[in-house]
Amino acid sequence: MMTCPILSTGELMPVIGLGTWRAFDVGSEEAGRRPLRQVLQRLLDDGGRIIDTSPMYGQAEAVTGDLLAESGARPRRFLATKVWTTGRERGIEQMRRSAQLLRTEVIDLMQIHNLVDWRTHLATLRRMKEEGRVRYIGITHYMTGALPELARILRAEPGIDFVQLGYSLATRAAETELLPIAADRGVAVIANRPLERGDLFRRVRRHALPDWAREFDCASWAQLLLKYVLAEPAVTCVIPATGNPDHMQDNLGAGFGSLPDARQREQIRELWAMM
Ligand SMILES: NC(=O)c1ccc[n+]([C@@H]2O[C@H](COP(=O)([O-])OP(=O)(O)OC[C@H]3O[C@@H](n4cnc5c(N)ncnc54)[C@H](OP(=O)(O)O)[C@@H]3O)[C@@H](O)[C@H]2O)c1
Repeated sequence: MMTCPILSTGELMPVIGLGTWRAFDVGSEEAGRRPLRQVLQRLLDDGGRIIDTSPMYGQAEAVTGDLLAESGARPRRFLATKVWTTGRERGIEQMRRSAQLLRTEVIDLMQIHNLVDWRTHLATLRRMKEEGRVRYIGITHYMTGALPELARILRAEPGIDFVQLGYSLATRAAETELLPIAADRGVAVIANRPLERGDLFRRVRRHALPDWAREFDCASWAQLLLKYVLAEPAVTCVIPATGNPDHMQDNLGAGFGSLPDARQREQIRELWAMM
């Protein structure tokens, strides 16, 4: 799979990851967990690493931790979770609980979810990173309205490794409002909601995939939508959520072959505008 360096260290990140919101909130029933086991297996077998979760996602952290522990694939994964509460002590307790549920001593990436009480948690995260309890730290949001605040924080606060933000073919404000700042500050970018929670398929699925999509190795609409996002140089990786192993396989396909160039990206935007 294609990789992209995490700018603060140079460690290579495979470009296709996995989101867990809704898809992994399934509880302990085997029927719900079975397809998720396959989703994770396919991700890791194809060289994917990053799995993004949060204490906000119901049972998702627990399910992710259980399934990875069963699979024996834990050494290959890159676990990203979040702190989503107010107050220093509550934040520390929540992060301790996340590590327990994910069954790991070290979280690869700890992010401040939707910037909730971010000043308090940023101080804690910096200390945790110094102590080696997290490898990377980051901030997240998903709304376009939050981009100015994400930008202000990246400009003012040193030592942030990752910013996670909403970016898709339909929601492109990050291209001008945040990606240049992240690149300038050496901050890696995780694109969330790349499929707009699945809504983008409603618009594209009435149309045939254009022949020219083959020029940049796209075999499906999902791959075109993900490759559009990945072709932005400041984007490090993308984390589409799925509970469906076939969808995972489809999404993984976007991590192989070539990416659309500037002309082809313009062609994609024009196509989208006509749909
Ligand atoms: N503030 C934050 O930190 C924040 C906010 C939003 C999101 N996130 C993160 O970003 C992740 C992704 O965002 P998201 O979950 O909101 O939305 P998304 O990834 O844009 O879309 C997920 C939806 O797309 C469907 N899907 C996935 N692959 C598909 C394919 N190949 N073909 C057809 N349908 C497909 C999934 O359904 P199936 O299960 O049926 O495949 C699911 O309903 C989240 O899970 C979360 O980890 C973080």
